[in-house]
Amino acid sequence: MRTNYELSDKMTELLNSYNRNSNAFQELIGEGGYMPPNQELLIDAISALSMGKNILLKGPTGAGKTKFAETLSMLFQQPMFSVNCSVDLDAESLLGFKTLANKDDQQVIEFVSGPVINAMQHGTFLYIDEINMAKPETLPLINGVLDYRRTITNPFTNELVSANKGFNVIAAINEGYVGTVPLNEALKNRFVVIEIPYIEGEQLKQLIQENTQLNDEHTIDLFVTLSADLIQAVVQGKIAEDAASIRALLDACDLSVLIPAERAIQRAIVDKLEEDREREFVLNLAATLF
Ligand SMILES: Nc1ncnc2c1ncn2[C@@H]1O[C@H](COP(=O)(O)OP(=O)(O)O)[C@@H](O)[C@H]1O
Ligand SMILES: [Mg+2]
Repeated sequence: MRTNYELSDKMTELLNSYNRNSNAFQELIGEGGYMPPNQELLIDAISALSMGKNILLKGPTGAGKTKFAETLSMLFQQPMFSVNCSVDLDAESLLGFKTLANKDDQQVIEFVSGPVINAMQHGTFLYIDEINMAKPETLPLINGVLDYRRTITNPFTNELVSANKGFNVIAAINEGYVGTVPLNEALKNRFVVIEIPYIEGEQLKQLIQENTQLNDEHTIDLFVTLSADLIQAVVQGKIAEDAASIRALLDACDLSVLIPAERAIQRAIVDKLEEDREREFVLNLAATLF
């Protein structure tokens, strides 16, 4: 297989024979911590990255997008530079800024590279989180970085920067989230999309067992049911999406070791909801389960 990276033997073997050998997966990614809902998701992401394509992780909040990006960079043994998008994101937070420095008793203007330039020059991964939180005019600055050119003229130094081998972009998007704008088509065009759903059922059970202090199997099962009910309620538009975040669920599981489960759910999930109606809905759900 032709790739942009030196894949480890284990990863190459996995890519070549993944449907024959499913246990190897858990073993391989165990350390990174992301638990993929299915093998294809992992294989497709690894394949795209190994061929030098940017990937866009698309999914709801708390579904493990950031965890997955970290796991991928671990698998590729690539340190990761990160950008967190917000409306304040500007050229400086992407590319870097100029500052005054002292050199041989003289004041000189130095350029301090930001995450995009750093990742390009080091030939590593660049993680762009919440890519649709940025103002629509900001990210097109790096269109050339994201397509086959892999270059940018640094507006602060007028230097042409070309990415070194190994550079690649992983971005995360949560469409439909308040404050986000639909991702510009030209930008979207530059990515291969990998959908990241919430994990459920047995997998979620395993995640709770491995990542929280909760041991009681019956309680874990109840939290798994709660999660499925919350996801369903989000899909039906009854509650805000954040309510189904696995992050919040894991917090509730942890707290439930020391305080009653219903109160744990209140602190970790319910009290983050804006509307009375939503809070009541989740409290009722918790009350019927616990
Ligand atoms: N499939 C998963 N595998 C491993 N951890 C997960 C998974 N889904 C959620 N989590 C956990 O939930 C929390 C939130 O994950 P994160 O990656 O920050 O979500 P996102 O970036 O999608 O908002 C983390 O603690 C993460 O470990
Ligand atoms: Mg995230």
